[in-house]
Amino acid sequence: MDNRRERPYVICYLAVSLDGRLDGFEPDLERYYGIAARFEADAILAGSETAIAAIERYGGVENTYDDGPVPELAPPDDPRPFLAVVDGRGRVRRWSVFQQAPYWGRWVALIGEGVPRAHRDYLSARNVDILECGSDRVDLDLALRRLAEVYGVRRVRVDSGGRLNGALLRAGLVDEVHLLVCPWLSGGSSPRSAFVADDLAPDALGTKLERMAVEQFEDGAVLLSYRAAR
Ligand SMILES: NC(=O)c1ccc[n+]([C@@H]2O[C@H](COP(=O)([O-])OP(=O)(O)OC[C@H]3O[C@@H](n4cnc5c(N)ncnc54)[C@H](OP(=O)(O)O)[C@@H]3O)[C@@H](O)[C@H]2O)c1
Repeated sequence: MDNRRERPYVICYLAVSLDGRLDGFEPDLERYYGIAARFEADAILAGSETAIAAIERYGGVENTYDDGPVPELAPPDDPRPFLAVVDGRGRVRRWSVFQQAPYWGRWVALIGEGVPRAHRDYLSARNVDILECGSDRVDLDLALRRLAEVYGVRRVRVDSGGRLNGALLRAGLVDEVHLLVCPWLSGGSSPRSAFVADDLAPDALGTKLERMAVEQFEDGAVLLSYRAAR
């Protein structure tokens, strides 16, 4: 069944090394975010690990509960995208880091039913919307459909690490993949590949894609754009 009409269109956009890794190189962040804006997404979807890494790395603080001033919700016609974080276990605790940044107009925690009341109360007190979508882990298909149903989200850009990208891909929920391939070879043996799927058998085939575009940059970076072959 073609279910694309009922859930938002999902675009995975990543900066990777030439060996398809997410670490061991330095992307040109101005270019990275300039390209990201082209996708005109209504919502940015991040994984909990990416959110916690951003709190610690860019916010410069620990991922502990905060009690600073609570921001106002943006008015309904605010043009900025939503930030939606897949956080099945309720691990993301420092939402103020995202609320103080100017990039998002509203914040949504996608959680599992086992997330404790105290965490839900924290989210509510901080004006972070809660969408419970699944039991243990977040049911990603359901979460996307709920974003469409509740907020009218039509285009989602995934800004995440290999685990969420891989889970979305394995669930058949990825429509486009854009890789900003940076002119680096990471080498080493870290498991940080762009699409992680622990359940894929070693000899199984991956996902077939169709090329949409190739864009070259002066410094040797290349933007490779593909859509899922259906
Ligand atoms: N180079 C780039 O373009 C780029 C972009 C973004 C982030 N990053 C980097 O990526 C790193 C983090 O990546 P990561 O792969 O460790 O983590 P991640 O993708 O940020 O987080 C894993 C997420 O996937 C969810 N998940 C995994 N399997 C699932 C399943 N089967 N069903 C539902 N949800 C599932 C987890 O849910 P639970 O929370 O419920 O476990 C979690 O939200 C950070 O260092 C970040 O800086 C790089």
